[in-house]
Amino acid sequence: MTDQPQPSNQRKPDPCAFVIFGVTGDLAHRLVVPSLYNLAVTGLLPENFCVVGVARNGMSSDALRESLMKGLHQFSTRKVDEVIAKRVLECVTCIEADPRQPDSFDRLRDQLHKLETARQTVGNRLFYLATPPNAFAPIARELGRTGLLAEDNGAWRRLVVEKPFGTDLASAKALNTELLKVAEEHQIYRIDHYLGKETVQNILVLRFANGMFEPIWNRNHIDHVQITVDEKLDVGHRGSFYDSTGALRDMVPNHLFQLLSLVAMEPPTRFDAYAVRSEKAEVLAAIQTQSEEEALKNSVRGQYLAGKAGDTEIGDYRKTKNVKPDSTTETYAALKLIIDNWRWAGVPFYLRTGKALGMKRTEVAIKFKQAPFAMFRCTPVDRLSRNYLLIGIEPTEGISLQFNTKVPGPAVTIDGVEMKFRYKDYFKAEPSTGYETLIYDCMIGDNILFQRADSVEAGWQAVQPFLDAWKKAGAEGLQTYAAGSEGPSQADELLARDGRTWRKIGPNG
Ligand code: BG6
Repeated sequence: MTDQPQPSNQRKPDPCAFVIFGVTGDLAHRLVVPSLYNLAVTGLLPENFCVVGVARNGMSSDALRESLMKGLHQFSTRKVDEVIAKRVLECVTCIEADPRQPDSFDRLRDQLHKLETARQTVGNRLFYLATPPNAFAPIARELGRTGLLAEDNGAWRRLVVEKPFGTDLASAKALNTELLKVAEEHQIYRIDHYLGKETVQNILVLRFANGMFEPIWNRNHIDHVQITVDEKLDVGHRGSFYDSTGALRDMVPNHLFQLLSLVAMEPPTRFDAYAVRSEKAEVLAAIQTQSEEEALKNSVRGQYLAGKAGDTEIGDYRKTKNVKPDSTTETYAALKLIIDNWRWAGVPFYLRTGKALGMKRTEVAIKFKQAPFAMFRCTPVDRLSRNYLLIGIEPTEGISLQFNTKVPGPAVTIDGVEMKFRYKDYFKAEPSTGYETLIYDCMIGDNILFQRADSVEAGWQAVQPFLDAWKKAGAEGLQTYAAGSEGPSQADELLARDGRTWRKIGPNG
């Protein structure tokens, strides 16, 4: 192991043009370009390569390079090597195009052709839509009209679409329809950055590369599953986006459902994109569609009030800039879901996520059924510690198993202990943005870590009753919680009525 980044032995992607729409925005500066830089450091950018930044208002290539370089220094996950940074940014060209002015896309096509010839990128193109979501369909339409997405002469053409993919089932379907008019499903890469996280990908390996888990991974042995994505951050500067989105839309059909589908899917017959994505879509489609009445009963939503998260003072959500003073948007959501299939019948999945909570913690907790008999006189069965298998994603990446053991001594006294695997104890990895894997996969044409149209729609289908019911209920039933707390106490009741409790999460997981 060494502190120096090592060249990778993965294959280099084909030559290509990497076209970023929304290049002047935060995402391009914070994640996309720093990821391209990290790929360059490990030798994983193509030899023949160019980056085209598309801005709606003209900007010179020099000005764009300068701004991206600044972003790189600000957001890079590792010390910036000026030589490599310059090499990456040298291949950036800025082109002006705006889907509201179709002519500009004809010009974009001509300029791109010229660049492709000069850079010998053989016509392979990746169009990365790092724009606000309302621009996805208009840009795609123009790319389709100008023929820029047509896969001809053996060249590939790919469209990468950022989150949020729709705001409900109808809009997600409409967006899929629009995109599928101009590109085939295999050309579309719907990004969910959770799939770039190592531990998330590791769920597949944990389940399917180890023989001992599969026999107990079902309703016979598992009591329930808890998925938690708690954030310490408040809404900050994103008031306008967040107030029209809320915790459920922002996190559940995408990030939390990625975790759920990896934990709950059936074993795929092959480790390829088609088989894996089909199983994921299948399990999402098996989430019971609840009536609005059931959705209200099986959910808790809350909004934060002023408080202190760590050392940070946080104000009332409703006082955030660009948030309506009488907003009923939830900043916390907890749901109980049922998966209607043979494996999971009767095993509830409890999901919770929120902003401005006491700590940042992302984990999946699999709670095994309790031992059936009270055979230990000193420790009745209901006082045995709980058997959890924990998949920690943040802040500690790893897996741990909690079980009971005998305390040394003449009496049979039982206590709970934990067996822990932490990624950082075994593997040395350079800090990354999490986007490198995803961007690399787009360039090599592996879409296993991207969402297929049917999965996206199945996700929205499952949350739609909650969206509808909450909209109708308005302020009624909307709970509050102090910033820095664990969320609304009503979330405990959601489990308590089933005789269960949320796992108590400490600072170390
Ligand atoms: C984004 C959401 O998709 O994910 C944000 O829009 C959220 O609101 C973020 O903070 C959480 O990502 P992570 O990787 O920090 O868990």
